[in-house]
Amino acid sequence: MEFTQEVQKVTDPIYKKIAKVMPEIEWSVHAPYIYKINKLKKEKNAVILAHNYQTPEIYHGVADFSADSLSLAIQASKTSADIIVMAGVHFMAETAKLMNPNKKVLLPDMDAGCSLSSSITGKDVRLLKKKYPGVPVVSYVNTSAEVKAETDVCCTSANAVKIVKSLGVKKVIFLPDDYLAKYVASQTDVEIISWKGICIVHDQFNAKEIIEIRKNNPEIKIIAHPECPPEVIKVSDFTGSTSAMIKYVEDNQPKKVMMVTECSMSDNVQVENPNVNFIKPCNLCPHMKKITLPKILDCLENETGEIIMEKSIIEKARLSVEKMVAIGR
Ligand code: 13P
Ligand code: SF4
Repeated sequence: MEFTQEVQKVTDPIYKKIAKVMPEIEWSVHAPYIYKINKLKKEKNAVILAHNYQTPEIYHGVADFSADSLSLAIQASKTSADIIVMAGVHFMAETAKLMNPNKKVLLPDMDAGCSLSSSITGKDVRLLKKKYPGVPVVSYVNTSAEVKAETDVCCTSANAVKIVKSLGVKKVIFLPDDYLAKYVASQTDVEIISWKGICIVHDQFNAKEIIEIRKNNPEIKIIAHPECPPEVIKVSDFTGSTSAMIKYVEDNQPKKVMMVTECSMSDNVQVENPNVNFIKPCNLCPHMKKITLPKILDCLENETGEIIMEKSIIEKARLSVEKMVAIGR
């Protein structure tokens, strides 16, 4: 695809915005795709929803809405577009489909999964419910629709504590992220029965490296996602969902910050916060990184990667997501 004068003219305002995090030579490769995707989106009345972990050329170049998992689920329920392209992972596309069963939801790469989501099946949840009869099941949104269909209420990292508290019970089954379960337990008096799922990206962080970074950068603010191991959360200044982490930077404008999470997010947030110095961890999510501009263009052009689910699963799974959305952030 060619970086023509027309492409350059139309995409230049986007490049000016992200020039700090992207070399010009790289832009000449991305710009023709951005130009074509944005044109096609209008022609097809399509919308691109992107998670905060997407690369800057997607996040700033083609996304109509970029956010954390909770806002993506809420936004998916509001859109009037005919086609939703999810620049994110499979469970996010499934959640968008649950909220819009009659719309076309496309995922540019069907192999964009999630280690948490693949750690548990619907059958596992049925067995747990048998083992702990009457105990409500709270599932992280990072699960398959099949698991959501066995769930009383979903949550994301933005509202996990609020959702668990809202149930007003002494005990809950909380799936599948063991670290998030421990975080929720630390913030409530509720007894949590957890599952041994982990996020392969956040599990790589450890307290020793955080302490070392703080020693070398005494003024730094360290903010961590609750999918991190508890020892990491303990030595951090703030814990929150990806959007809560972004808000922390926007509101506090720390001189130096380390976002203990997937590293594309620091690039994305750097763009809007030029005076903040980001110490960037380089843990990439291999699933999120499967989504690229050429794949977005291909799926939009040919309408491939459509999310198809059984009606019975959609109806059951949708209830658990709707309950979460009603409780909110
Ligand atoms: P958020 O809900 O905080 O955006 O996190 C989703 C995710 O997959 C984090 O790894
Ligand atoms: Fe799943 Fe972790 Fe990737 Fe998020 S960062 S999609 S939790 S593997």
